Amino acid sequence: MPRNVSACAKVINIKRGSLTVIMTADLILGKEISQQIYGELDARIDRLKKNGITPGLAVVLVGDDPASQTYVRMKGKMCQELGMHSDTIIMPETTTQEELLARVSELNENPDIHGFLIQLPLPKHIDEQAVINSIDPSKDVDCFHPFNVGRMLIGEPEFLPATPAGVQQLLIRSGVKTDGKHVVVVGRSNIVGKPMAAMMVQKAIGANSTVTVVHSRTEDIGSITRQADILIVAIGKAGFITPGMVKEGAVVIDVGTNHIPDPAAKKGTRLVGDVDENVKEKASAMTPVPGGVGPMTICMLMSNTVHAAERAYERKCSQ
Ligand code: GUN
Repeated sequence: MPRNVSACAKVINIKRGSLTVIMTADLILGKEISQQIYGELDARIDRLKKNGITPGLAVVLVGDDPASQTYVRMKGKMCQELGMHSDTIIMPETTTQEELLARVSELNENPDIHGFLIQLPLPKHIDEQAVINSIDPSKDVDCFHPFNVGRMLIGEPEFLPATPAGVQQLLIRSGVKTDGKHVVVVGRSNIVGKPMAAMMVQKAIGANSTVTVVHSRTEDIGSITRQADILIVAIGKAGFITPGMVKEGAVVIDVGTNHIPDPAAKKGTRLVGDVDENVKEKASAMTPVPGGVGPMTICMLMSNTVHAAERAYERKCSQ
């Protein structure tokens, strides 16, 4: 069994006198793996603090999207838990592009802030890419700036984008071999699908894979996903990947976060991924939702912020 995974009970199914043993997938637990990484970050944060630097992260939220509010709150809370400096800047839905660009400019200049991000999506009247382009690349802990995207693509990353980096850490730290394996990425967003594919194709640890990307316009997606040794799903549709689309023994990473109606739940909704839960009977290992990729995203954002602070310290020392 790979390291850092939790084995599920075997399901024993008695069918008309014959005994069928159905193996269920091992669980790759982001909750546990992120704790391991936070332990490593604690030591790096202590070292920075001894040198007079407290890593600082600012998060800018424009508008009042409830999901974004939750993510922003979680980022601030995690900074606090790690003893990092955190700033949450909340701006109204009516904020103009010029006002937001002025905020970015202030954050670019603020020496207490080593990294910052603008929570996406932005209101429709703001040009998202123009705002991303205005972020100082050395503080771009989301790794969304074209300069950092380019560095990642040529295999010289300063930062890695949080969600794909979290997926890669799950694979590495649970002992999943990626070298020479066929990775199929489902989805082509700028935040997950495209950078995920770019990272898995690199000559690097936790990569060196043969990569295929499928998306909403791909014909017969199942014929391609069935070839995957490692299937990474970020398409934003609840239960999109069914058991018939998965090769026996594949490792399945579910990046989906979909809220579906559930009258039995207190809130009336329940969080599910993009992968049908019955896929566990086909996969050798799989991430749960919640508790899989989710906790890793915020963890890698913290890791990028600590890295940005370490870089700032190095620059200070070399002056
Ligand atoms: N919205 C959804 N995911 C993200 C993310 O990783 N970074 C930012 N800035 N916004 C997001």
